[in-house]
Amino acid sequence: MTPVYEPLFAPLRLGSRTARNRIVHAPMSVCYGDTDGFVTRPQIEHYARRAQGGAGTIITENFAVNVAGRQMPRQTLVAGPEHLPGLTELAAEIKRHGALALVQLVHAGRYAGPWDVYEQARRLAPSPVSFELTPGRVVTPAEITTTEIEESIEAFGRAAELCQQAGFDGVDIHAAQGFLLSEFLSPAMNRRTDDWGGSFDGRVRLTLEVLREVRRRTGPEFVVGVHLMSDELTADGWTIKDGVRFVPSIAEEGADFVFPIPATFESLRLPPNVGLYGRPGYGLADVAAFRQATGMTIIANGGLGDPAAAAAVLERGDADAIGLARPLLTDPDWTAKAAAGTPEEIRTCPCDPPQCLRTQLTGAVCAHWPAEAVAQGYLGY
Ligand SMILES: Cc1cc2nc3c(=O)[nH]c(=O)nc-3n(C[C@H](O)[C@H](O)[C@H](O)COP(=O)(O)O)c2cc1C
Repeated sequence: MTPVYEPLFAPLRLGSRTARNRIVHAPMSVCYGDTDGFVTRPQIEHYARRAQGGAGTIITENFAVNVAGRQMPRQTLVAGPEHLPGLTELAAEIKRHGALALVQLVHAGRYAGPWDVYEQARRLAPSPVSFELTPGRVVTPAEITTTEIEESIEAFGRAAELCQQAGFDGVDIHAAQGFLLSEFLSPAMNRRTDDWGGSFDGRVRLTLEVLREVRRRTGPEFVVGVHLMSDELTADGWTIKDGVRFVPSIAEEGADFVFPIPATFESLRLPPNVGLYGRPGYGLADVAAFRQATGMTIIANGGLGDPAAAAAVLERGDADAIGLARPLLTDPDWTAKAAAGTPEEIRTCPCDPPQCLRTQLTGAVCAHWPAEAVAQGYLGY
């Protein structure tokens, strides 16, 4: 092993479990599920192939906890026992290759979709703040009622329990990117004056209640993490100071790890943030700030596809693990190649904007795959 990469290959403690290394497949909506929300064979092969390539932990793309919280036309649902067979097969195939298997759970909130066809159900948000959903299409969400808030909390708990029954090691609660939980965190999006808004404590309450419900329904052995918006990157939104203030509460509430990521879909369109995803190590300042605030396990992410740069983050002690999204889509053998000391063989992901983002609605394709995988529409076994 190349000594400089060694920090990547130390075992990682995640709650009650131990991953074989510190490479985490970061959630990435590749959308190979079917339009009814069930797991498919391409999806199973996609994730299992990344485990086979050596990643220690696989966190799936965001799976919706109910229909109101679904966004993408091919997004998987974790809402009832009918979803168990596919989820069970998915967990087993990931684990067969030696990785821990986690599901990211989301309620899309005001981004509910599928964007192109979504009209029937109420688009739920803390407050009816209008926004541009897709270029040129402005929508105004409905203010979520207290009953709907309670239903959403219940849905997260039920989904986590289903994941546990399916054999997953844990879940990653999505409180970032502008989805429902992060909308509640944001003073710009959450203008409520009841117990779910107003003060800092009011705005963080939903994330804490979801975490509590997930823990209550799954027990202490189940790994539970939070994908936390570290900074909304808007003038009037949630700031890194808020993130630093909040992260100890997540630890107290029993989270096993935090996965900080900045920005929302909208703030990414603001001039200073355009091209953020293309900047190497763009999440690292926030990760270092979180490190000052908590001793809990932190997963760093964002432009860390160079193994030497990734290892240096761990060496500095700023984070405990490295989350890779596009690098593992492009090359599922990233981990194996780094372990073998052949980083020059890693297929990299230079396109900006990424082709995977532009092809998400029908199943993400990477421009840098071998031709047969591009033709197939996914790179599995
Ligand atoms: C096509 C695409 C889909 C994504 N889907 C998700 C998702 O479902 N959940 C999530 O938390 N982040 C998602 N992300 C963000 C990634 O997890 C990650 O934060 C981002 O790509 C930066 O990491 P990277 O440089 O390793 O790709 C997505 C990113 C891309 C490009």
